[in-house]
Amino acid sequence: MKQPCVLVTGGAGYIGSHTTVELVAAGFDVVIADNLSNSELSAVDGVRRITGREIPFVELDCCDRAAMTRLFDQYDFDAVIHFAASKAVGESVREPLRYYRNNLTSFMNVVELMQATGRPNIVFSSSCTVYGEPDEQPVTERSPRKPATSPYGNTKQMCEDILLDTVAADKSLRGIALRYFNPIGAHPSGLIGELPRGVPQNLVPYITQTAAGIRECLAVFGDDYPTPDGSCIRDYIDVVDLARAHVAAIRRMIDGRCRERYEVFNIGTGRGVSVLELVRRFELVNGLKLNYRIAGRREGDIVAIWADPTRANEELGWHAERPLDETLASAWRWQRHLSGLD
Ligand code: UD1
Repeated sequence: MKQPCVLVTGGAGYIGSHTTVELVAAGFDVVIADNLSNSELSAVDGVRRITGREIPFVELDCCDRAAMTRLFDQYDFDAVIHFAASKAVGESVREPLRYYRNNLTSFMNVVELMQATGRPNIVFSSSCTVYGEPDEQPVTERSPRKPATSPYGNTKQMCEDILLDTVAADKSLRGIALRYFNPIGAHPSGLIGELPRGVPQNLVPYITQTAAGIRECLAVFGDDYPTPDGSCIRDYIDVVDLARAHVAAIRRMIDGRCRERYEVFNIGTGRGVSVLELVRRFELVNGLKLNYRIAGRREGDIVAIWADPTRANEELGWHAERPLDETLASAWRWQRHLSGLD
């Protein structure tokens, strides 16, 4: 019998590469499509080495309608996971049109081609950014979405809405939006992980680059927030756990177990961790001292957000499993590998 096949757009990226590994481990065929605008072919090599499979890789831009049409003609997908998108919050504020064009066009191309070719199942990479600054913690999927604070966040809300409306209009389509909290860490093999270009914008790559001596000092953005230690609180989810949530979502769709044709799930641990706690944990687990200083607040930062993952636990049968310490050890192992420190 033919194995189900999943198209992973953005499959050379951080979350896409880890998800491809987990899909293959779960018995799926995968085709990766990526324009390599914020990723490297080395990630595809890493995925091939971990899985021992010659996973097809197609270099294309999902905004290129003709190339996407050829891709949909060439392969027989049962489902699509759409990761391909730009994701830097600050850059999106500076270049909003580029973000709207890229993130919306690519998503609409995927959904339209799925409709045109009768492919029913799509998983969309959404973000907890859609909740803005929440009034209550932890956030559930019923917590209100707040007006987006950046064009990037707005594209996540808009793509969710595009999916909701399209699924409502087309009874043959099913969509799942996974709202990720803060993905961190790397694959235990040390062969794939996050590959930030230039100065990292996110906390953990900045921490690991500081520990490796690439950056001089981590700036902790604010210690005067109304939280127990004054620094912001997030829900840090291991990237392999996050990858497995996609496998659970795809299984649910392919097995016909969706309760609604459009569903939303929070993908987080349910545990809030402050920036200073994370820094201390990183130092302890990896036996090193990190050079850091308290700096001013970063504009647009949310004070605190963590997930109520109950719906994903119960409906997807998915749980965050990897302890934070292991995740932080994997992040450092990956950085040492990148920096040639081993
Ligand atoms: C942001 C976005 C999220 C997006 C993610 C990926 C918002 C509210 N969140 O997450 O949707 O998916 O980026 O790019 O738009 N920090 C420091 N020093 C640093 C870097 C970060 O102290 O050098 C702090 C931040 O102030 C924050 C925490 O670390 O409190 C996490 O920051 P970051 O990793 O950038 O993620 P978010 O801002 O939560």
